[in-house]
Amino acid sequence: MEFTDAGDDLTELLISEEQIRTRIAELARQIEADYAGHDVLLVGVLKGAVMVMADLARELRIPLTMDWMAVSSYGSGTESSGVVRILKDLDSDLSGRKVLIVEDIIDSGLTLSWLMANLNSRGPESVEICALLRKPDAARVEIDVKYLGFDIPNRFVVGYGLDYAEKYRNLRGVGVLAPSVYA
Ligand code: PRP
Repeated sequence: MEFTDAGDDLTELLISEEQIRTRIAELARQIEADYAGHDVLLVGVLKGAVMVMADLARELRIPLTMDWMAVSSYGSGTESSGVVRILKDLDSDLSGRKVLIVEDIIDSGLTLSWLMANLNSRGPESVEICALLRKPDAARVEIDVKYLGFDIPNRFVVGYGLDYAEKYRNLRGVGVLAPSVYA
């Protein structure tokens, strides 16, 4: 789905498909250099990370495996509580593995803060984070992101995996949702 296909639902295209592709290729070169000679396990966090996982994994010119987790934050509406429930756990054993968490966005940081602690408790050799987007102004906890795509303003963004009420995930770029859609 293109920006124009969304009609009046989006006010602005914040990051284009081309910008995402270029940035993911840059991140992939860094990741390849850092993990050369090692097997890396990419852990995607469902559902938002599906697009970045698919594109990053295919861009990487190193052997890798992929696994998925689904988590849900307790709390109402858009307010994240920091207490996370595992809806689908990994199939893989993490002991001795080099793990790279792949996320679409760091908003408050609460999900990744919890996830880092959870995965680190499973005996991996290392756990790092790759996130396409980060909202610095929304941060409630500091997250050490090794591979970051873009810092973005604290606005309601959708696309490239990010949804509003499960819609707009298939937008090719990242756009700003019109207030009329969610007000
Ligand atoms: C989004 C995103 C992160 C989390 C970030 O997932 O994919 O996992 O929120 O927010 P935080 O930094 O404030 O914790 P969401 O819960 O919307 O689920 P989804 O990926 O299935 O859309």
